[in-house]
Amino acid sequence: MVQVKDKQFEVFLPETEILARTSQLAAQLSRDYANKEPLFVAVLNGSFIFAADLIRHVSVPCHVSFVRVHSYQSTASTGTLTEVIGLQENIEGRHVVVVEDIVDTALTMSRLLAQLREQMPASLEVATLLCKREAMQTDLALKYVGFDIPNRFVVGYGLDYDGFARNLPDLYVLKD
Ligand code: XMP
Ligand code: MG
Repeated sequence: MVQVKDKQFEVFLPETEILARTSQLAAQLSRDYANKEPLFVAVLNGSFIFAADLIRHVSVPCHVSFVRVHSYQSTASTGTLTEVIGLQENIEGRHVVVVEDIVDTALTMSRLLAQLREQMPASLEVATLLCKREAMQTDLALKYVGFDIPNRFVVGYGLDYDGFARNLPDLYVLKD
């Protein structure tokens, strides 16, 4: 049990399990992207720990870059927009793998993928540590998923509650 600000969390996935699954994903990526020099695009802030552990176990030549996604309300008619900040690389013709901590409603990821697709990558896939399948509001093909988890709030291993708990080595779930 751990207290983060006003809320209590309990261990959901210990670091050892996360690392075991992460190295499986890295092995799968290494097979799939042999000779493709993939570009891993990690989405800050939440994915920084997962991206570090995942990419460290990828055994084929690759590049790594980071983006932030800024979601904002525009007008009532257009709804929420997503701005992708910080992508330095030209991704045209590249094999791109977006690295994310968690896909919840999947709205953020689908907008991010749409924007990256406009730049004509040779291929575009997602590697996410966690996926809340039952919360997904859009049909996204997620090729590399660490764990399918129930629709509950989780923190630790890079994920935060109000900016806190990113430093916890294990993944925790909000106590009910
Ligand atoms: P959507 O709904 O667009 O949201 O897929 C993705 C973003 O929402 C955040 N998120 C979480 N953050 N614990 C967190 O710490 C969670 O359980 C959680 N669910 C969603 C996260 O920033 C993700 O990128
Ligand atoms: Mg995130």
